[in-house]
Amino acid sequence: MSAASDIFDPRLADAGEQRIAWAAREMPVMAQIRERLARERPLEGLRIGACLHVTSETANLALALQAGGGEVTLCASNPLSTQDDVAAALVERAGIGVFAIKGESNERYYEHIARVLDARPQITVDDGADLVSTLHSERQELLDGVIGGCEETTTGVIRLRAMAADGALRYPIIAVNDAATKHMFDNRYGTGQSALDGVIRATNLLLAGKVVVVAGYGWCGRGVASRARGMGAQVIVTEVAPLRALEAVMDGFRVATMLEAAEVGDLFITTTGDIHVIDAPHLERMRSGAILANAGHFNHEVNIAALEAMAEERREARPYVTAYRTSDGRELLLLAEGRLVNLSAAEGHPASVMDMSFANQALAIEHLAQADPRPGPGVWDVPSEIDEQVAALKLAAMGVELDQLTPEQERYLQSWDAGT
Ligand code: ADE
Repeated sequence: MSAASDIFDPRLADAGEQRIAWAAREMPVMAQIRERLARERPLEGLRIGACLHVTSETANLALALQAGGGEVTLCASNPLSTQDDVAAALVERAGIGVFAIKGESNERYYEHIARVLDARPQITVDDGADLVSTLHSERQELLDGVIGGCEETTTGVIRLRAMAADGALRYPIIAVNDAATKHMFDNRYGTGQSALDGVIRATNLLLAGKVVVVAGYGWCGRGVASRARGMGAQVIVTEVAPLRALEAVMDGFRVATMLEAAEVGDLFITTTGDIHVIDAPHLERMRSGAILANAGHFNHEVNIAALEAMAEERREARPYVTAYRTSDGRELLLLAEGRLVNLSAAEGHPASVMDMSFANQALAIEHLAQADPRPGPGVWDVPSEIDEQVAALKLAAMGVELDQLTPEQERYLQSWDAGT
């Protein structure tokens, strides 16, 4: 059953199949969607090119799209996040074309994106917008065949909005990240847990009693800060936005500048989506033994070139831990080459939360396939009915029941005359 692909080892397919089935146990919303898609086949013959983290959860999305009639081709959205056994199972057991190898070079990463584009996708599914940006810059001849796309993550949505503002974006893209049932859960609880999971698997660090510095108090930062506090760490938040900083203060965190925090932190976790949040002046102030981890999409948040420039020696202390010895005798520890620590050193977000994120993806793709008239080029919200549906399906799967408004309550909410 194998399809054109470039993966590490097809013999890992058995292990990958088990892993995909394990994730499926926690993805009841996707199971329902997959069943309906298989019955209705709304994606019949539709070529879907996806650039996502190749994990067991993504596999469940790819299989649902395939069950709905889609022809899926998949590459990785990060060189370090691929689960090679999952890639093997998708190729060998489902006949899905996968181009992804854990630890691939940047060059191979872009070759793999090119292979997905070779399949002439009509729908693009991106996590970080590398597929869309390559399509628009290097493969413009394919643009006329594209119906639309979906974007999974905050960083990708920011990039796409910049493309749209420049007049460069040529087709409609649904910002799946911006659905409430995506960012309020995946970004907060998913990143909150999986980023710490990555740090702990890489280092076996006890968080209790440590000073953890969280850069950024968006949904991801809120999640990481709250989970680190829950494990007994003293958490310092750094921010540039007054509202977010104020929220962090009122949530009970100490807010400080990175220059101040650099001197006292044991563990630094970046979640900003911006560049050089930890820069040379911060690195110069850090204590020996400080650990640097990134939970933002790209490996730009720690200035790695500055770290390398100040290091006299560099060694692999253990898997996913690079120790840099500075000329003043300190050792700074960088996790997973500054790439997404949760997907590099651990397994990414747990399946239960990806269930909602990927339900939004599947329903947004179906929506694009059926939209008449099609939305114009630009970044679009996930239709609110999809968001509501995902929340309702998740609650039902969790066995949680809700109250209903009585007719009297509905009337009251629509009235304006009843006051004090
Ligand atoms: N992003 C974060 N966690 C993920 C996961 N488990 N699978 C796919 N994408 C992810």
